[in-house]
Amino acid sequence: MRRLTPPDRHAIQAAARALRDGELVVFPTETVYGLGADAENRDAVRRIFSAKGRPTDNPVIVHILNVAMARDLTAGWNETATELARRFWPGPLTLVIRKSARVPAEVAGGLDTVAVRVPDHPVALDLLRECGFPIAAPSANKSGRPSPTRCEDARADLGDAVAVYLDGGATRVGVESTVIDLTRKRPTLLRLGGVAREAIEAVVGPLAAAGKIERPLAPGMNYKHYAPQTPMRVAENPAKLAELWREFNAARGARSIAWLVSSEADIAGPDVTVVASRDDADVWAHRLFALLRDADRGGHDLIVVEAIPEAGLGAAVMDRLRRATQK
Ligand code: TXA
Ligand code: MG
Repeated sequence: MRRLTPPDRHAIQAAARALRDGELVVFPTETVYGLGADAENRDAVRRIFSAKGRPTDNPVIVHILNVAMARDLTAGWNETATELARRFWPGPLTLVIRKSARVPAEVAGGLDTVAVRVPDHPVALDLLRECGFPIAAPSANKSGRPSPTRCEDARADLGDAVAVYLDGGATRVGVESTVIDLTRKRPTLLRLGGVAREAIEAVVGPLAAAGKIERPLAPGMNYKHYAPQTPMRVAENPAKLAELWREFNAARGARSIAWLVSSEADIAGPDVTVVASRDDADVWAHRLFALLRDADRGGHDLIVVEAIPEAGLGAAVMDRLRRATQK
């Protein structure tokens, strides 16, 4: 089993060497851990898909240092992109733009676009500087599982398929980046994430919804996602939570349930985790995936999660919960 290493200068150089040799590296970003490969090395990128068990039609995000690198990889960089990059990079915003010839088809999942972002994490940025080339990196989980917010979660999923694990501790944001498509008439929201929709709309006006249109815009959003192995339910409101709690108690522990609830919920017990206030969506986002993985390890029959308001990062949190419970 590969070792996790603190991301000192020495480790970052070793990671850059591994990437140059076409191997895979797990590294922290501000959102979740990424599974990185040299974006211009087709064989290395193919290795990402086999390590994750990811369908090859699901493109990966390319991590870059700055707008100059973004311009190199794209053919349709425009004023909206400049505006969004100025406001949100480095940070959890991914822009989908028509790709240049430098981006291999493997990265784009066969589409004519590429997704790019500048991560807001010193280790990711040091690694990019040390390499000098763009790094293709999806979240470092097995396909379908919750994204890793701790290095050991990535290792539990990927083991020896990865040459170097850079352990930067728990990630700050906890949900993945927001993905915006800039190839359409209006900027289109493909995935809710670490930058709140409201903040983006303050810059570019109302975002179009991807909805159910002619082709899947973010192919990844078609697959079941973010799911723990244990069955899961969302208690859509406080009354529903109270009802499930009553049923559970009436059944006198016939089932073992892990409860992830707000500090306003009126329940308590050994398997009840108070995540944060209902209105503290940032903390919910920060803790969610790690709590789902921990609940999984607890050997429960069911995980019940209380819904929170869909403002700010609450929208991304609820999006992940719904996808994790969809059949
Ligand atoms: O925060 C994040 O975005 C993390 C960190 C590591 O950067 N990465 C991440 O990557 O979440 P991944 O592969 O798990 O999710 C990328 C999403 C997928 O839904 C994928 O389909 C979509 O972005 N995507 C990537 N390239 C695309 C493209 N060219 N057009 C449309 N959607 C794209
Ligand atoms: Mg992912």
